[in-house]
Amino acid sequence: MNKITLPRAAQISSPNPVTLVCTQKPDGSTNLATVSWWTYLSYNPNMIAYAMAKTSYSGEMVRQNKKVILTIPSEKITDAVLGCGSTTGRNTDKIAKFGIEMQEVDGSDIRIPAHSALAIVCNLKEYIETGDHYLYICNVEQVYAGDNEKAVFAWNGYSEIASAKK
Ligand SMILES: Cc1cc2nc3c(=O)[nH]c(=O)nc-3n(C[C@H](O)[C@H](O)[C@H](O)COP(=O)(O)O)c2cc1C
Repeated sequence: MNKITLPRAAQISSPNPVTLVCTQKPDGSTNLATVSWWTYLSYNPNMIAYAMAKTSYSGEMVRQNKKVILTIPSEKITDAVLGCGSTTGRNTDKIAKFGIEMQEVDGSDIRIPAHSALAIVCNLKEYIETGDHYLYICNVEQVYAGDNEKAVFAWNGYSEIASAKK
């Protein structure tokens, strides 16, 4: 075995999962941020978690509103997924910038991309400091699946978005 860095490990473990973290901005619109570091935590009760840099605007919104939807984007919006991972919602309307079609979600104020393979509607339970990130631990309220939408993954250390089989 050879000693390597953790970012290099992320390349070796590719493809890695990818989500769009959907939060609500003060004007009611949705902010979307690309997040690979998420995981299922518990089935009883249903819980998930994800980690975001302390500086992220999405983090600020979820700490404020306590509500978030994690979606798994489909292969129809791969370019938008990369775009949402390289701009901040603090000063950009990512939905307009990347031309993302949106849809309503039953029982939630937060809209999500129309082309989503999965949507996990959550309440923030707590968040803890983990180095330069916060780990957001969430209770799952509802889970929805999108018809005919194929999930995508992050390849080559988060530089490319594509389905699991290339
Ligand atoms: C494929 C991919 C995966 C990413 N995964 C994460 C992640 O797991 N956690 C994180 O904090 N940022 C991640 N990012 C970077 C954020 O999406 C980026 O910092 C974004 O600008 C945050 O937006 P916001 O400020 O609107 O929240 C990822 C970016 C890409 C392209």
